[in-house]
Amino acid sequence: MDFLQLDTGAADPLYRQIYLRFRDAITQGLLQPGDRIPAARALALELGLARGTVESAYGLLTAEGYVEARGQAGTVVTPALARHAPVAPTPRHAPAHDNLGDAASTTMPFQMGIPALDAFPRKVWARLAARAVRAMRPQDMIYPPWAGLPELRIAIAAYLQLSRGIDCTPSQVFITNGYRNSMELVTRALLKPGDGVWVEDPGYPPTSDLLREAGMRVAPVAVDGEGVMVSHGIASAPQARAAIVTPGHQSPLCVSLSLPRRLALLDWAAQSGAWIVEDDYDGEYRYVSRPLPALQSLDREGRVLYSGTFSKVLFPAIRLAYIVVSPAQVPRFEEISRTFAASGPTLMQHIVADFMNEGHFARHIQRMRRLYAERREIAAEGLSAVLGKHVRIDPQPGGMHLILRMKGHHTDRAVAARMREHGMSALALSERGVLPHGASALLLAFTNVDTPERARELGKRILKLMA
Ligand SMILES: Cc1ncc(COP(=O)(O)O)c(C=O)c1O
Repeated sequence: MDFLQLDTGAADPLYRQIYLRFRDAITQGLLQPGDRIPAARALALELGLARGTVESAYGLLTAEGYVEARGQAGTVVTPALARHAPVAPTPRHAPAHDNLGDAASTTMPFQMGIPALDAFPRKVWARLAARAVRAMRPQDMIYPPWAGLPELRIAIAAYLQLSRGIDCTPSQVFITNGYRNSMELVTRALLKPGDGVWVEDPGYPPTSDLLREAGMRVAPVAVDGEGVMVSHGIASAPQARAAIVTPGHQSPLCVSLSLPRRLALLDWAAQSGAWIVEDDYDGEYRYVSRPLPALQSLDREGRVLYSGTFSKVLFPAIRLAYIVVSPAQVPRFEEISRTFAASGPTLMQHIVADFMNEGHFARHIQRMRRLYAERREIAAEGLSAVLGKHVRIDPQPGGMHLILRMKGHHTDRAVAARMREHGMSALALSERGVLPHGASALLLAFTNVDTPERARELGKRILKLMA
């Protein structure tokens, strides 16, 4: 039994080492089907171990079918293994080449959707988080309520009333794990496969992707300077059961949906019994005036579902968002959020609720609005100064990114691809549409461009790529 070299200093217990040595010897053919293996007592004596140790290893080998006890005849390697290929589980190699995603990668310049992380009030957050952990009671360790923690739902309803003009009770607010989860609840609760759904074009690609995955028919509707062109939607897809829109700052063009269009959209939904999902992912960040009231605040027929997220106003890793539904839809959403286990970790919900209730949230948003107005200016000036010959920067009323319209012969796709090759993030507007359309522009987030020097330095890096 040369293969039975045991290592008394190893982390693996001795019984497991014996089991593994036998298993390897069998799968590598050192022990053949039908070969006898020593009796447990004899082997224990030989190895100077307790008999129970060897018996534990044999027990495992027997349970897994490597050996069979044959009474008086002793224990043998299972004869039936002769008919099978080697049975050892394939060894797991070091996961060097496993692709576990890019979560560890750092933020790249101009990366869309990332707030100014340097300005996040980490100290306050850490204090609230530590307090929430210390205050955890046994009831905080069971499953959270499906629709979300009551204190968070109450805090969100109060906040929406004040900041977005939305009149809702906490029971209308459903906490989710992010926008996609909110959309999943909407499609499951209100739509069925085959239903037509308007999406903005250009738009936010995950919206059409998730609708297609849910079996919906995506109906692109063009966007102009007043937002989504409702009359086009009515002409091209009048039977649609829903429209998913970004009225605050259209994603990605940043225009706000005009009042006539808002009313036309609400009329269409009321008359055709369709639903409107208002994706208000960054409605708070408007720089030319106070944030516009939400579309939902104009809805008298209960057709609008308001979708909010903490990704932009706090940070994306938080994975908390919410959907506000009309009172008539509350029972259906309670049912569906139970089935699809919406809501999120209790602890995180507690922390966010405390952050809101103690005034940090409102203060943070105000501070960020001022900071983004500044950074938007800094980024636009710095980039225009260097790249002015090649691009024109559209003034937008809000949002977290700039739109650099290409002036010369460069295409947005080519420049965006080169920027990505050189460690910067960039999105090409022409890639954001469902339908092919001509607009060529770069979408660059300004939230993490903190100084004029940085803006110019980044501009020079882009200029070099255009040479
Ligand atoms: C148009 C739009 N909707 C919604 C979201 C929010 O998604 P989530 O809650 O998954 O962060 C984003 C984030 O970038 C967005 O750009």
